[in-house]
Amino acid sequence: MKKADYGVKNILISEEQIRERIKEMGREMTELYKNSENKLLVITLLKGGAVFTSDFIRNIDLQLRVEFIKASSYKGTESTGTVKIDLPESLNNLEGYDVLISEDIADTGVTLAKVEDILLSRNPASLKSAVLLNKPSRRRSPFVPDYVGFEIPDLFVVGFGLDYCEKYRNLPYIAEMDENYINEE
Ligand code: IMP
Ligand code: MG
Repeated sequence: MKKADYGVKNILISEEQIRERIKEMGREMTELYKNSENKLLVITLLKGGAVFTSDFIRNIDLQLRVEFIKASSYKGTESTGTVKIDLPESLNNLEGYDVLISEDIADTGVTLAKVEDILLSRNPASLKSAVLLNKPSRRRSPFVPDYVGFEIPDLFVVGFGLDYCEKYRNLPYIAEMDENYINEE
Protein backbone atom coordinates (compact mmCIF):
# COMPACT_ATOMS: atom_id res chain seq x y z
CA MET A 1 0.00 0.00 0.00
CA LYS A 2 1.38 3.42 -0.97
CA LYS A 3 1.63 6.19 1.60
CA ALA A 4 -0.82 9.10 1.50
CA ASP A 5 1.70 11.52 -0.02
CA TYR A 6 3.04 9.16 -2.71
CA GLY A 7 3.22 11.14 -6.00
CA VAL A 8 2.93 14.64 -4.58
CA LYS A 9 5.62 17.27 -5.03
CA ASN A 10 5.88 20.44 -2.97
CA ILE A 11 3.44 21.61 -0.34
CA LEU A 12 1.85 24.90 -1.40
CA ILE A 13 -0.21 25.60 1.71
CA SER A 14 0.63 23.96 5.02
CA GLU A 15 -1.75 22.39 7.50
CA GLU A 16 -1.05 25.23 9.94
CA GLN A 17 -1.74 27.95 7.35
CA ILE A 18 -5.03 26.30 6.42
CA ARG A 19 -6.08 25.94 10.05
CA GLU A 20 -5.37 29.62 10.79
CA ARG A 21 -7.13 30.85 7.64
CA ILE A 22 -10.25 28.75 8.28
CA LYS A 23 -10.41 30.14 11.82
CA GLU A 24 -10.36 33.68 10.39
CA MET A 25 -12.99 32.82 7.79
CA GLY A 26 -15.19 31.30 10.48
CA ARG A 27 -14.89 34.44 12.59
CA GLU A 28 -15.80 36.54 9.56
CA MET A 29 -18.93 34.45 8.94
CA THR A 30 -19.91 34.71 12.61
CA GLU A 31 -19.71 38.52 12.34
CA LEU A 32 -21.51 38.55 9.01
CA TYR A 33 -24.54 36.57 10.14
CA LYS A 34 -24.74 37.12 13.89
CA ASN A 35 -27.43 39.82 13.68
CA SER A 36 -29.42 38.19 10.92
CA GLU A 37 -33.08 37.35 11.46
CA ASN A 38 -32.79 34.43 9.06
CA LYS A 39 -31.69 30.84 9.57
CA LEU A 40 -28.19 29.98 8.36
CA LEU A 41 -27.80 27.13 5.88
CA VAL A 42 -24.36 26.02 4.70
CA ILE A 43 -24.45 24.09 1.43
CA THR A 44 -21.46 22.05 0.31
CA LEU A 45 -20.61 20.18 -2.83
CA LEU A 46 -19.53 16.58 -2.52
CA LYS A 47 -17.01 15.24 -2.41
CA GLY A 48 -14.27 17.88 -2.47
CA GLY A 49 -16.00 20.45 -0.28
CA ALA A 50 -16.60 18.05 2.62
CA VAL A 51 -13.16 18.38 4.24
CA PHE A 52 -13.05 22.19 4.17
CA THR A 53 -16.66 22.47 5.29
CA SER A 54 -16.24 20.21 8.29
CA ASP A 55 -13.51 22.51 9.62
CA PHE A 56 -15.23 25.70 8.43
CA ILE A 57 -18.56 25.09 10.22
CA ARG A 58 -16.77 24.26 13.48
CA ASN A 59 -15.34 27.78 13.35
CA ILE A 60 -18.70 29.49 12.86
CA ASP A 61 -20.13 30.31 16.26
CA LEU A 62 -23.82 30.37 15.27
CA GLN A 63 -26.64 27.87 14.97
CA LEU A 64 -26.66 26.50 11.47
CA ARG A 65 -27.89 23.72 9.24
CA VAL A 66 -25.55 21.97 6.81
CA GLU A 67 -26.51 20.17 3.60
CA PHE A 68 -24.40 18.28 1.11
CA ILE A 69 -25.28 18.20 -2.56
CA LYS A 70 -23.74 16.39 -5.50
CA ALA A 71 -22.47 18.19 -8.56
CA SER A 72 -20.83 16.37 -11.41
CA SER A 73 -19.19 18.07 -14.33
CA TYR A 74 -19.04 16.48 -17.70
CA LYS A 75 -16.43 18.20 -19.76
CA GLY A 76 -17.06 17.21 -23.38
CA THR A 77 -14.55 19.64 -24.78
CA GLU A 78 -12.09 22.07 -23.19
CA SER A 79 -14.24 25.07 -24.04
CA THR A 80 -17.63 23.92 -22.78
CA GLY A 81 -18.52 22.30 -19.51
CA THR A 82 -21.94 21.14 -18.41
CA VAL A 83 -22.73 20.51 -14.81
CA LYS A 84 -25.42 18.29 -13.35
CA ILE A 85 -26.65 19.16 -9.88
CA ASP A 86 -28.82 16.96 -7.66
CA LEU A 87 -30.74 19.23 -5.33
CA PRO A 88 -32.75 17.31 -2.73
CA GLU A 89 -36.44 18.13 -2.35
CA SER A 90 -35.79 19.50 1.13
CA LEU A 91 -33.98 22.43 -0.53
CA ASN A 92 -36.81 23.33 -2.90
CA ASN A 93 -37.82 26.34 -0.88
CA LEU A 94 -35.06 28.40 0.73
CA GLU A 95 -37.18 31.33 1.91
CA GLY A 96 -36.01 32.56 5.30
CA TYR A 97 -32.51 31.13 4.88
CA ASP A 98 -29.19 32.89 4.57
CA VAL A 99 -27.49 30.40 2.28
CA LEU A 100 -23.72 30.08 2.33
CA ILE A 101 -22.11 27.90 -0.34
CA SER A 102 -18.93 26.32 1.00
CA GLU A 103 -16.60 24.75 -1.55
CA ASP A 104 -13.03 23.55 -1.92
CA ILE A 105 -12.07 25.43 -5.09
CA ALA A 106 -13.31 27.86 -7.73
CA ASP A 107 -11.48 26.89 -10.89
CA THR A 108 -13.34 27.72 -14.12
CA GLY A 109 -16.24 28.67 -11.85
CA VAL A 110 -18.69 26.81 -14.08
CA THR A 111 -19.87 24.51 -11.28
CA LEU A 112 -20.39 27.28 -8.75
CA ALA A 113 -22.11 29.59 -11.25
CA LYS A 114 -24.64 26.83 -11.91
CA VAL A 115 -25.09 26.08 -8.21
CA GLU A 116 -25.70 29.79 -7.54
CA ASP A 117 -28.32 29.95 -10.30
CA ILE A 118 -30.20 26.96 -8.96
CA LEU A 119 -30.11 28.14 -5.36
CA LEU A 120 -31.23 31.67 -6.32
CA SER A 121 -34.26 30.17 -8.06
CA ARG A 122 -35.29 28.77 -4.62
CA ASN A 123 -35.63 32.30 -3.17
CA PRO A 124 -33.11 32.36 -0.30
CA ALA A 125 -33.07 35.49 1.91
CA SER A 126 -29.41 35.89 0.90
CA LEU A 127 -26.78 33.90 -0.97
CA LYS A 128 -23.02 34.06 -0.48
CA SER A 129 -20.11 31.78 -1.23
CA ALA A 130 -16.87 30.87 0.50
CA VAL A 131 -14.13 28.82 -1.15
CA LEU A 132 -10.91 27.56 0.35
CA LEU A 133 -9.01 28.05 -2.91
CA ASN A 134 -9.49 30.36 -5.87
CA LYS A 135 -7.79 30.10 -9.27
CA PRO A 136 -8.95 33.38 -10.86
CA SER A 137 -6.73 32.91 -13.93
CA ARG A 138 -8.82 29.89 -14.97
CA ARG A 139 -12.23 31.57 -14.79
CA ARG A 140 -14.64 30.82 -17.65
CA SER A 141 -17.87 31.95 -16.00
CA PRO A 142 -19.24 35.05 -14.26
CA PHE A 143 -18.77 33.43 -10.83
CA VAL A 144 -17.01 35.56 -8.19
CA PRO A 145 -16.61 34.02 -4.71
CA ASP A 146 -17.52 36.32 -1.81
CA TYR A 147 -14.90 34.84 0.53
CA VAL A 148 -11.62 33.19 -0.46
CA GLY A 149 -9.15 31.31 1.73
CA PHE A 150 -6.18 31.44 -0.63
CA GLU A 151 -5.63 32.64 -4.19
CA ILE A 152 -3.49 30.12 -6.05
CA PRO A 153 -1.85 30.13 -9.50
CA ASP A 154 -2.97 27.90 -12.36
CA LEU A 155 -1.65 24.63 -10.92
CA PHE A 156 -3.34 21.29 -10.37
CA VAL A 157 -3.42 20.81 -6.61
CA VAL A 158 -4.48 18.01 -4.29
CA GLY A 159 -5.19 17.54 -0.61
CA PHE A 160 -7.70 18.85 1.93
CA GLY A 161 -10.59 17.34 -0.03
CA LEU A 162 -9.17 17.84 -3.52
CA ASP A 163 -8.36 14.71 -5.46
CA TYR A 164 -6.44 13.34 -8.37
CA CYS A 165 -8.18 10.16 -9.60
CA GLU A 166 -10.05 9.98 -6.27
CA LYS A 167 -6.81 9.97 -4.26
CA TYR A 168 -5.16 12.50 -1.92
CA ARG A 169 -8.34 13.93 -0.39
CA ASN A 170 -6.99 12.91 3.02
CA LEU A 171 -3.78 14.97 2.87
CA PRO A 172 -3.99 17.65 5.58
CA TYR A 173 -2.28 20.25 3.33
CA ILE A 174 -2.55 21.53 -0.26
CA ALA A 175 0.17 20.19 -2.54
CA GLU A 176 1.18 20.15 -6.16
CA MET A 177 1.22 16.84 -8.02
CA ASP A 178 4.47 15.45 -9.37
CA GLU A 179 4.12 15.36 -13.19
CA ASN A 180 6.14 12.13 -13.32
CA TYR A 181 3.53 10.44 -11.21
CA ILE A 182 0.69 11.72 -13.41
CA ASN A 183 2.48 10.19 -16.41
CA GLU A 184 3.02 6.98 -14.48
CA GLU A 185 -0.76 6.37 -14.05
P1 IMP B 1 -14.91 24.43 -11.79
O1 IMP B 1 -13.98 24.31 -12.97
O2 IMP B 1 -14.68 25.74 -11.07
O3 IMP B 1 -16.33 24.21 -12.18
O4 IMP B 1 -14.49 23.29 -10.77
C1 IMP B 1 -15.01 22.00 -10.86
C2 IMP B 1 -14.33 21.04 -9.93
O5 IMP B 1 -13.07 20.70 -10.50
C3 IMP B 1 -13.97 21.53 -8.53
O6 IMP B 1 -15.04 21.49 -7.64
C4 IMP B 1 -12.92 20.48 -8.17
O7 IMP B 1 -13.55 19.30 -7.72
C5 IMP B 1 -12.23 20.23 -9.50
N1 IMP B 1 -10.93 20.94 -9.56
C6 IMP B 1 -10.66 22.13 -10.10
N2 IMP B 1 -9.35 22.44 -9.95
C7 IMP B 1 -8.79 21.41 -9.29
C8 IMP B 1 -7.46 21.13 -8.81
O8 IMP B 1 -6.49 21.90 -8.95
N3 IMP B 1 -7.29 19.94 -8.17
C9 IMP B 1 -8.30 19.05 -7.97
N4 IMP B 1 -9.56 19.28 -8.38
C10 IMP B 1 -9.80 20.44 -9.04
MG1 MG C 1 -15.44 19.87 -6.19
